Amino acid sequence: MSAIGQGINRADGRLKVTGQATYSAEHKIPHLAYGMLVLSTVPKGRIAAIDVASIKRMPGVMLVMTHQNALKLPKQNAEGKTGGSGGKEQSKPNQKQQPPNPKMSLLQDDRVEYNAQPVAVVVADTFEHARDAARRLQVRYATQPAQLDFQKAKLKLRRPEPQPERPSDTGRGNVARSMERAAQKLDLLYTTPMENHNPLEPHATIAAWDGDGLTLYDATQNVSGVRRTAAQAFGIDPEKVRVVCPFVGGGFGCKGSTWSHVMLAAMASRMAGVPVKLVLERTQMYGPVGARPLTEQRLRLGASSEGKLLAVSHDTVSSTSFVDDFVEPCTAVTRKAYASESLQTSQRLATLNVGVPTYMRAPGESSGSFALESAMDELAYALKVDPVQLRLTNYAEKEPEKDIPWSSKSLRECYRIGAERFGWARRTPAPGSMRAGRTLVGWGMATASYPANRKGAKASATIDADGSVVVRSGTHDLGTGTYTVMAQIAADALGVDVSRVRFELGDTRLPEAPVSGGSQTVASVGPAVHQAARAARDKLIATALGDSASNLHGMNANDVDAANGWLFAKADPARRDAMTAVVSRAGGQPVSADAEANQGDEKKRYGMQAFGAVFVEVHVDPDLGTIRVPRIVAAYGVGTVINRKTTHSQLMGGIVWGLGMGLMEKTEMDWRVGRAVNANLADYHVPVNADIGSIDITMVDEHDPYINELGAKGVGEIGITGVAAAIANAVYHATGKRIRDLPITPDKLI
Ligand code: MOS
Repeated sequence: MSAIGQGINRADGRLKVTGQATYSAEHKIPHLAYGMLVLSTVPKGRIAAIDVASIKRMPGVMLVMTHQNALKLPKQNAEGKTGGSGGKEQSKPNQKQQPPNPKMSLLQDDRVEYNAQPVAVVVADTFEHARDAARRLQVRYATQPAQLDFQKAKLKLRRPEPQPERPSDTGRGNVARSMERAAQKLDLLYTTPMENHNPLEPHATIAAWDGDGLTLYDATQNVSGVRRTAAQAFGIDPEKVRVVCPFVGGGFGCKGSTWSHVMLAAMASRMAGVPVKLVLERTQMYGPVGARPLTEQRLRLGASSEGKLLAVSHDTVSSTSFVDDFVEPCTAVTRKAYASESLQTSQRLATLNVGVPTYMRAPGESSGSFALESAMDELAYALKVDPVQLRLTNYAEKEPEKDIPWSSKSLRECYRIGAERFGWARRTPAPGSMRAGRTLVGWGMATASYPANRKGAKASATIDADGSVVVRSGTHDLGTGTYTVMAQIAADALGVDVSRVRFELGDTRLPEAPVSGGSQTVASVGPAVHQAARAARDKLIATALGDSASNLHGMNANDVDAANGWLFAKADPARRDAMTAVVSRAGGQPVSADAEANQGDEKKRYGMQAFGAVFVEVHVDPDLGTIRVPRIVAAYGVGTVINRKTTHSQLMGGIVWGLGMGLMEKTEMDWRVGRAVNANLADYHVPVNADIGSIDITMVDEHDPYINELGAKGVGEIGITGVAAAIANAVYHATGKRIRDLPITPDKLI
């Protein structure tokens, strides 16, 4: 039986639940010292004085690194971007749509551009000494006026630098003219708040130098990106840098870039002459390591009286920083969503004295789908048509932006299955018309959507004499199941049981893989693993065919197949040879093969996107405005499902996060000083088990022959998309109140 599709348990599950999985801060390194960041307490200004002397006298303190004494980095890199996740400096052709890393705060000068910016690192012999000393370090600032008012910042809007696939302005047709013909017009404004990532594992780095060689144990979604960044920052050969990360305790985008603390740990280690471990405290996760930016989205829709979209206009303003730009590409989802004869989108930036924002699960698609899918619901009410029907009326049979076919699209099936499993036909459309006792019941739905991304990746496969297989690629497992699904892909390609395959990842000594972001790991690394395993299998077959002692001697390779650890004649499976026997007769040397898998020009010929439909029931207390979500039903077309269990987990995790986005999540900023006030897991609200009811997920059968040889689209991010809108739409259905500002907290309903 094929290993692909099986819902097998995680290969690393036992390690994790028994505490044996080694996370970045847990590597045992001799002579380790402990570094602690000191973060700025003002949003803008210059460091006037730092009282280093008294801190240096504290017990165990080995180093107080400030802008006054910090290692001077090569000039061109000290201020410039570092390109860790794929800047211009790198040659891999397939990585170009990856924007470069943010500029970092590396103590090269006295300027402060945001609150919670790193201003010093204290290194001591124990964690407690380092923390105590860091907390006592007195920094005086010459403050300057900061821009912390989004509405004022909007007066100086900037157009972001366009990136490939991410133009700042797009359009087709003539929106103004189409709008004139529209029987129904809507002009709506949606806002989403700043949000911060809260992976259970905080950012953590251990830096150790050996001469001019640097090893970084780093919590990252991109070991090769961190290597490039470090090599550039220190002006050394990338070969001199090794980055190790076998386990990630959640990433969600915040570990996709290389942030300041990684380089600061390496700088401190160099200066202190010992390995340094630097772990961010939970509170330090709010500021210097990215956040989802604020967005303000204006959606204008024009439709015929039958509900045919004639004009769609989506203008997004998102917040960015003075250090570097980040664009929350909310319009991306709108550009691919519906058939409309005209469309216009724009992305603009409003600059604040905050840390650089960053990717957060479905960056753009989650925030953008809240606006678009809320607006579609508003249009459905305005036209008095069913929300599902409105979407079917405007179904994009072709990729609407480039007018090319989809590689596959099962959205119609998703609407049908989702609606059926939810019982959508029993919905009465009038707001407030469905009740359970005094509780207001609301049913809402939305479309989910996320692009099917892919980049170049390398892998190797080795068959050992005992028949075990080791497959290697420098990718990552963020808790997503990479270890497990890659073993399945390799087992399937090789013809061995999945239990015989070990997958190694998370090390720059392994064949290079791209950033594990953009839901692209399976679609990028999977083909490389498949090809390497196939190549190793073919080598083994060739060895057997040339071996006079083999039952298969002299056969044609095309007539031989492999399964369950055997090579056998397709026409006569009893004629066979054990893989272990082939290897041992050939001298017992492991059989290895490498592969590099790259995308061809498929993306030019086909629109590649995963779609889904999400249906939500909310119960609203009419007096208190509290919202419960007893059930969510969703259906997705994500191509080949490699592992039903881990795929289901990814989609469910995304849905749960979508619920949090809809109802709870918000970084509460004190805008007088630009600092998060709920910077901890107690005050930053995310859903817990008690907030979650039934979640019913269907993965529809979807065959995609174009996307990659596995036919897999990636599932890391689509689950969050559409959920917040479906909740908002259900809340409107329950209460008649349209909330266009996330999160939908009780105060907005009463
Ligand atoms: Mo994901 S936000 O692209 O790591």
